[in-house]
Amino acid sequence: MSTAIRHYLQFTDLSADEYAYLLQRAALLKQKFKTYEKHQTLSDRTLAMIFEKASTRTRVSFETGMYQLGGYVVHLTTGDSQLGRSEPIEDSARVISRMVDLVMIRTFEQSKIEAFARHSRVPVINGLTNEFHPCQILADIFTFIEHRGPIQGKTVAWIGDGNNMANSWLQAAKLLGFTLHVSTPKGYELDEMLALGERADARHLRVFDSPLQACQGAHLVTTDVWTSMGYEEENAKRLQAFADWKVDATMMAAAQPDALFMHCLPAHRGEEVDADVIDGPQSVVWDEAENRMHVQKALMEYLLMGKQTA
Ligand code: CP
Ligand code: NVA
Repeated sequence: MSTAIRHYLQFTDLSADEYAYLLQRAALLKQKFKTYEKHQTLSDRTLAMIFEKASTRTRVSFETGMYQLGGYVVHLTTGDSQLGRSEPIEDSARVISRMVDLVMIRTFEQSKIEAFARHSRVPVINGLTNEFHPCQILADIFTFIEHRGPIQGKTVAWIGDGNNMANSWLQAAKLLGFTLHVSTPKGYELDEMLALGERADARHLRVFDSPLQACQGAHLVTTDVWTSMGYEEENAKRLQAFADWKVDATMMAAAQPDALFMHCLPAHRGEEVDADVIDGPQSVVWDEAENRMHVQKALMEYLLMGKQTA
């Protein structure tokens, strides 16, 4: 196993300098995509995509992204592979990584993707775990910059569940120098120790009981489903607990006048966000979804080839 392998399992796996490169590279790849200019730096490389949970955006963005880079994909799910019949994750990693150049995994515990990565001969990318969703945060930051310029020094308001998205936002806030305002119902708080291994200071995280107060002064308001994949049995309890954490026009009015709204999708209009917000003029959710593909193309290229100049 080479020590040179770079995995992307958490947002903290890359440095601020590397993010600066990736964000600028993603902008170039997006511009080429829009003008039908071929960019096939991963010609004949293969990406294995392993899904233990459902997906629309992650699958489509990685699959189309890899084809555009000149490569191929293999799509595996728990239901149609030995992963669902208890083959050890370590054995799956050893086997799959002998035949492909790159692996993307969507699974449950972070410990599972980490075990896979430890036994993989090729880079492994986190396509969502219970704990983290770094590719989505990368796309969200790219989208913010595209619309509003640098995110450094800005304020992002996270309203709702202290989940995988929230954890990755907190890691990004510390690494890239912005402030995260968080408001969650009691019992669903962000776990700073999990995200950072330490308590965040006020430059990175401010916690609010009131979601309205958390939105005050924010340059971006963002939320997510109240019940993430894997937590479905808690749905009824969560519907009650989260009732006051719906992003609505009043919360958006408390934010900066030009604040953006984001949601990683899929969304439930009338639950975590009102339709007039997600379908309103401040919402950039469709750019956000598309940008998954552009940033992940830059990420896959970087993990396999390092910084490129052409
Ligand atoms: N946002 C996101 O990861 O979407 P999918 O679950 O559809 O992949
Ligand atoms: N927090 C959500 C994100 C879905 C893209 C989940 O884990 O289900």
